[in-house]
Amino acid sequence: MSVAKPLPHDAAPLHVSGKARYIDDIPVPADCLHLAFGLSTIAAGKITAIDLSAVRAAPGVVKVWEAKDLPSDCDCSASLHDEPLLSDGSIHYLGQQVFLVAATSHLAARKAARLAKITYAQHDPILTIEQALAADSRFEEGPRIWEKGNAAEALKTAPLTLEGSLEMGGQEHFYLEGQAALVMPQENGDLVVASSTQHPTEIQHKVAHALHLPMHAVRVETRRMGGGFGGKESQGNALAIACAVAASETGRPAKMRYDRDDDMMITGKRHDFRIDYTVGFDKDGRLQAVDFRQYTRCGWAQDLSLAVADRAMLHADNAYDIPALRVESHRLKTNMQSATAYRGFGGPQGLFGIERVMDHVAHHLKIDPLELRRRNYYADLVPAGARLAHDDAEDQASRGAMAEIEGGAAPQETHYGQPVEDFILGAMTAKLEETSGYAARRKAVDAWNESNPALKKGLAISPVKFGISFTLTHLNQAGALVHVYQDGSIQLNHGGTEMGQGLFQKVAQVAAARFGVPLEMVKITATDTGKVPNTSATAASSGSDLNGMAVKAACDTIRDRMAAHLAELHQDLPENVRFEGGRVHVGGTDIPFEEAAVLCYRGRVSLSSTGYYKTPKVDWDRIRGKGRPFFYFAYGASVTEVVVDTLTGEYRILRTDILHDCGASLNPALDIGQIEGGYVQGAGWLTTEELVWDDKGALRTHAPSTYKIPACSDRPEVFNVDLWDGRNVEETIYRSKAVGEPPFMLGISAFLALSDAVASCGDDYPDLVAPATPENVLAAVRRLRHGV
Ligand code: MTE
Ligand code: MOS
Repeated sequence: MSVAKPLPHDAAPLHVSGKARYIDDIPVPADCLHLAFGLSTIAAGKITAIDLSAVRAAPGVVKVWEAKDLPSDCDCSASLHDEPLLSDGSIHYLGQQVFLVAATSHLAARKAARLAKITYAQHDPILTIEQALAADSRFEEGPRIWEKGNAAEALKTAPLTLEGSLEMGGQEHFYLEGQAALVMPQENGDLVVASSTQHPTEIQHKVAHALHLPMHAVRVETRRMGGGFGGKESQGNALAIACAVAASETGRPAKMRYDRDDDMMITGKRHDFRIDYTVGFDKDGRLQAVDFRQYTRCGWAQDLSLAVADRAMLHADNAYDIPALRVESHRLKTNMQSATAYRGFGGPQGLFGIERVMDHVAHHLKIDPLELRRRNYYADLVPAGARLAHDDAEDQASRGAMAEIEGGAAPQETHYGQPVEDFILGAMTAKLEETSGYAARRKAVDAWNESNPALKKGLAISPVKFGISFTLTHLNQAGALVHVYQDGSIQLNHGGTEMGQGLFQKVAQVAAARFGVPLEMVKITATDTGKVPNTSATAASSGSDLNGMAVKAACDTIRDRMAAHLAELHQDLPENVRFEGGRVHVGGTDIPFEEAAVLCYRGRVSLSSTGYYKTPKVDWDRIRGKGRPFFYFAYGASVTEVVVDTLTGEYRILRTDILHDCGASLNPALDIGQIEGGYVQGAGWLTTEELVWDDKGALRTHAPSTYKIPACSDRPEVFNVDLWDGRNVEETIYRSKAVGEPPFMLGISAFLALSDAVASCGDDYPDLVAPATPENVLAAVRRLRHGV
């Protein structure tokens, strides 16, 4: 069967040979217009005068738009309708779009955009958390608060307490392919949009809205992205809308792609956070209560910030059963790029908070951090089973076993009231402890640090429990459209988008498995709003969960029709018909799938079907902070060892061991790729990737020259990644688990290992700031050694 096989990415040969087609590779007609935005040069204030005559007169310029020239406000927001395509005269961040230029070439448009003469009346921008709190500049009235138990009371009676504060930076997505869109005008005002987006339906919706068109007049196609990482859930709207306006007004195709600097200046990034905490615990390190105050800078527009901040709150417990947990979340409005979705969607920030608390308590009590974590884990309720077959018949048996275990165990639930029924980190941690040689290496690291004054080593573990589902319940749905042609070849369409994660290959494997045919018979096609409508963004890691199930439903409908017809032809029962090995077994004989397709076509059987899926069990009230936002949890754990030069602050990751839970993996090769990439990206967030805004609100790190993503050489020198041998207790597609985001948080162990190395320089707990750039590491070392 084609599922569970470690097949390479379907487009790997195209990726490495440069033949994979991205938006910028689509051949365009000679009269195509190229667009660029003119950007504001202040962070807050009003435009007092605007003179675009030099822009209009520049070589190659065809048309220029200010807000007043647009057919509507052309709102780009994914949520609140607070993002006009072009400034309405007020300026909210440095880099905001003020006007739009269409020219005969990309370069001509960009050059012309620099020639504007704009004068402003400036206000003091609100940039820092302190400034935003002082001005009460927020997206919701006051903070949102969710609580389990009574944290304030429990903190009063706890034998020991600690307080602390943790700063963590944002993160630029740095997808290799920047934002891009191309709009081709059709007859009668219709538009076809090619967009590098995780959310084709949103592009369709926003373009239709901007031009007062019904959604049926706009078709959006996305073959692939050169990376999205959450940065293409909403941030592509502006380009597609701009191209649609230009195309509909001129009748010419229009294309827009951001230069890297523009991309970094204009688009939103990961939310940065400050988390203040108070923790109460006993002398054995059992946590009794934690009170978190999470402060996040959301930037100028709401975008997805409320959902991101919610997810940070939802992950404040991570893997730990804390009797009293209070989370207070402040969503602050600042004069910066509007922070947006980024792999983990707030989860990493919330999770980092409690991991820091664990480390702090362990340091205080001088208990091994792994042991301390284990003492606070939720209880394992799932047997550490050997791999079970990918066979529906097995499902019944394993569910029976689960029920027995559940019946005997004490109920445990998160701070938002979701039962934790699938916890496996106890067993996973035990296995990783062994395979990584944790105990012996802990001793070796301590011995090394005793005898080396300058080079210090650090070792740390961090676990992950990540909730899978969109917290906005209605997004947990998906559609598919499958065609079997009369030659037996199969065309596969679903609402998910491909951004390098391997979704298309996984879903093709599902389709091939349902029909029992080789993978080559399945054609993977571009995502197309004309084929599968009303889709959700490919996000929240649920691409294969949702679309895999929708495709399975579509395939099974066709398969059942084929089975009924073939059974009739062969005087057999439909339930006896089997689709296997590229053949259909019926009435004591077997015929090639191709022949079966022809027979069904001639028998006037429909060989095309839609499929639909909605996630069961989820139900969430975000105002009360109670319910079941997640269908299930995905788990993982990582151990990282680092070495730090305490004279310069420079460091290397020496070794990383990961054990990650993908349930019964649909494709172990792709899953391991996601885990490796996720870890490195997570480690990058907390180590070298630093966003710097100056006091005028200008982003000073807007190119790879100043913003350091991990390079190949920053990958751990030894990198052992293993998959946990298990299966999802919930009925997901072939009992697999989502893998896109959870491994990102494994990178937290890299930060904690650096903190551990710094800790060996003194007695106090090192207040290392994230990202732990060499400068920040050196500063933390100095504070410990010299108190400066
Ligand atoms: N992997 C690659 N190579 N490129 C990406 O852009 N995005 C991540 C993750 N892995 C991403 C990636 C994010 S943010 C999400 S939500 C998931 O993939 C989305 O895809 P999935 O739901 O199919 O896992
Ligand atoms: Mo991922 S941040 O949910 O696109």
